[in-house]
Amino acid sequence: MTGRLEGKVALVTGAASGIGLATAQRFAREGARVFGLDRDGDRLSAALDGTGRALVADITDEHSVAAAFRQVHDAHGRLDVVVANAGVQLFGADAPIADLDLEVWQRTVDINLTGTFLTVKHAVRAMLATGGAILVTGSPTALTGEGAPYTAYSTTKAGGMGLVRTVAAAYAPVGIRVNSVVPGFTATPLVAALADDAASRADIVSRVPLGRAGTPDDVAAMMVYLASDEASFTTGSTYFVDGGMTVL
Ligand SMILES: NC(=O)c1ccc[n+]([C@@H]2O[C@H](COP(=O)([O-])OP(=O)(O)OC[C@H]3O[C@@H](n4cnc5c(N)ncnc54)[C@H](O)[C@@H]3O)[C@@H](O)[C@H]2O)c1
Repeated sequence: MTGRLEGKVALVTGAASGIGLATAQRFAREGARVFGLDRDGDRLSAALDGTGRALVADITDEHSVAAAFRQVHDAHGRLDVVVANAGVQLFGADAPIADLDLEVWQRTVDINLTGTFLTVKHAVRAMLATGGAILVTGSPTALTGEGAPYTAYSTTKAGGMGLVRTVAAAYAPVGIRVNSVVPGFTATPLVAALADDAASRADIVSRVPLGRAGTPDDVAAMMVYLASDEASFTTGSTYFVDGGMTVL
């Protein structure tokens, strides 16, 4: 099926890689006019390869985020879908709390939580008159013991999922829908430290009832549904694409 996002204008953050890139590509195939945002301009242009327009911005910097949203407005005068997906997980530095450096905590909070706040803030502003759909990428680490080794990452992901509920409740009356998408262990550069190590990968996959790592396309399929008008009665909720990891 294609054309499920026909006529929609969409902005996806973290679009140079992994889940954001797969989502931008899938949105374009479904008929959306896509803007891919990332802080790494060279990688972004190469990855998008004409799929959509590249917006180079750092989500921790409000001026940079506002300028990116302005470019979308100047091009189309509307914005229907925003995916707040960019994030980092600082493997080797993030840790159980007694061993966690303030600098690592702060860097993770700046990108994953403040960056998500700024993205959603400007998304809501752009949608106030028209309504729209906002998606935020969560994580099983926010909800289960999977997060134990990664205090900063897991806490920011829980914060993002809280933000979803708050904003969904506040802006439902003007037709803005906000939902969390929770990927499980998904093969992307973010988790290369785990995925490229055979023992670590086997250990994580052993906790996935469906018995494999997810792919970015698995997650993008859920993004399409929630961005589309098929999900028009859906807000403030959490959608898992995790092979069942969170039921254990
Ligand atoms: N891969 C997984 O197993 C997994 C699991 C659960 C949740 N997630 C979440 O999915 C989302 C996407 O992760 P991914 O696995 O595709 O990772 P990825 O590393 O492949 O892609 C993340 C992208 O975000 C960009 N980015 C980082 N900081 C930025 C900033 N300050 N401004 C703009 N762009 C920035 C990076 O340049 C990169 O292109 C993240 O929020 C991550 O926490 C991933």
